[in-house]
Amino acid sequence: MRHTPREASPRRYLMCPPTHFKVTYSINPWMDPTKPVDLPLALAQWEDLRDRYRALGHTVELLDPSPGLPDMVFAANGATVVDGRVLGAKFAYPERSAEAAAHLDWFRRNGYPDADVREPDHVNEGEGDFAVTASWILAGRGFRSSPLSHDEAQEFFGRPVIGLELVDPRYYHLDTALCVLDDARDDVMYFPDAFSPGSRAVLERLFPGALIATDQDAAALGLNAVSDGRHVLLPQAAVGLYDPLRERGYEPIGMDLGELLKGGGSVKCCTQELRGQGRPAHR
Ligand code: ARG
Repeated sequence: MRHTPREASPRRYLMCPPTHFKVTYSINPWMDPTKPVDLPLALAQWEDLRDRYRALGHTVELLDPSPGLPDMVFAANGATVVDGRVLGAKFAYPERSAEAAAHLDWFRRNGYPDADVREPDHVNEGEGDFAVTASWILAGRGFRSSPLSHDEAQEFFGRPVIGLELVDPRYYHLDTALCVLDDARDDVMYFPDAFSPGSRAVLERLFPGALIATDQDAAALGLNAVSDGRHVLLPQAAVGLYDPLRERGYEPIGMDLGELLKGGGSVKCCTQELRGQGRPAHR
């Protein structure tokens, strides 16, 4: 069955240019410090993504990159913003820990009142492990975010948090294994083998109609995608997802972020969504 086209809604994103991107350490299986990175190409690929969001009518805010924080381009990990409230990150590895303060600073300087910005008690890697649907916040654990951060997020946001156990080191963040396609209707796509049997059963129960990704598309990091409710920006090599997305009324847009893939991230990792208040009158 082919759906009628879906409706996009305007979004506000926070991104950080890969000015200082490199792979000098390895904290996930995608990172090989012996492989060279083409920095100008990484920048051009990232600019394409930023420009594509703007061309679709979305707002892109920019975070200043810091030298010495090569993974800062993966802005999704720096915080989670829901209903205009900000839960800061606390990184699992020391190599990235200083990114958390840079994000908190950005929010404080950009009109988010202190009362709405929380410095977390427990390890959480922002939207790397938190995904927001209409009904729930889905929360990954197993490699990075602590299960304790799930309770912290539930208490802070006042939304039910569903914990999901990740079991495959290639899919070390929830956003490498699951993507929210329609956040008004609880529609998602995911790769079942990335999850424990119990978490798979939970996903089947919550999302019986979900788009199920193949091993190949997941391995192209195809689930590391961003949807505005209609346009789905995804790593271009995940070709097996295009038709199933179209059949559901989405418009897939393949992006080449090959250089950033060497750090273990793609479209979604580069994109933190700023949800709710704090959203300026739309441009
Ligand atoms: N090199 C980074 C890390 O391992 C990549 C982060 C990717 N971000 C994401 N949202 N999955 O932490």
